[in-house]
Amino acid sequence: MDHSNISLTLEVWRQESASANGKFVTYKVDDVSPEMSFLEMFDVLNERLIREGQDPIAFDHDCREGICGSCSMHINGRPHGPWHATTVCQLHMRAFKNGDTIVVEPWRAKSFPVIKDLMVDRSAFDRIIQAGGYVSVNTGNVNGVDANAIPVEKDKADTAFAAATCIGCGACVAACKNSSAMLFMSAKVSHLALLPQGAPERKDRVLNMVAQMDKEGFGSCTFTGACEAVCPKEISITNISRLNKEYLNAGMTVDKR
Ligand code: SF4
Ligand code: FES
Repeated sequence: MDHSNISLTLEVWRQESASANGKFVTYKVDDVSPEMSFLEMFDVLNERLIREGQDPIAFDHDCREGICGSCSMHINGRPHGPWHATTVCQLHMRAFKNGDTIVVEPWRAKSFPVIKDLMVDRSAFDRIIQAGGYVSVNTGNVNGVDANAIPVEKDKADTAFAAATCIGCGACVAACKNSSAMLFMSAKVSHLALLPQGAPERKDRVLNMVAQMDKEGFGSCTFTGACEAVCPKEISITNISRLNKEYLNAGMTVDKR
């Protein structure tokens, strides 16, 4: 593999605030190491912009380890960029060739309004999680109960764990032609619905979360699978079937507990 440094042209969406009009601004970046992460490349560009007295590009990031879900942006039209099952912070510049032009945009969805440049407000996801409420699990020696002592079948534990790996990045919404949040929702509902610890509040949880999702203005799911294709955690759309089953069951039986 060629490890030479590369030169790139970036077309970056700049937008001062939610109410301002945005536009693409072109930046030339030289001497980019293929071993840099995409965000490190942005760090170097931002240091240059600050030195030149320009406003640095605003983008979200936190862990830079693929676990917090905050580094959300479209790269060349694809949420999180060209690598499968990889967040932007884990994308490295060896994914690009010398002379490439890279187009970088924020998530586009009514429920994720732009805050500035590449940063969007994903607090709609937080409100959906909050609507799900608490999980009542007795723990500790006072009651003589240890939550982890409840037997769980291996296949259910594995499926619940896979659903729990959703990092709430919002790529599923950004990729969906309907801006649907169903893949995210289905991961959150599935992870608790599959476990005995999640059973007591199971019906209220799914009804309240779906009601909040609708209130936030996310679109409906037409099961085209664009969400699954771009999900950095490979959350399966089979979880959406489980969510629909949980929702229907709760709706039909919630008053008969
Ligand atoms: S389901 Fe995947 S794409 Fe959607 S929020 Fe969770 S990790 Fe991100
Ligand atoms: S910065 Fe946390 S997942 Fe990318």
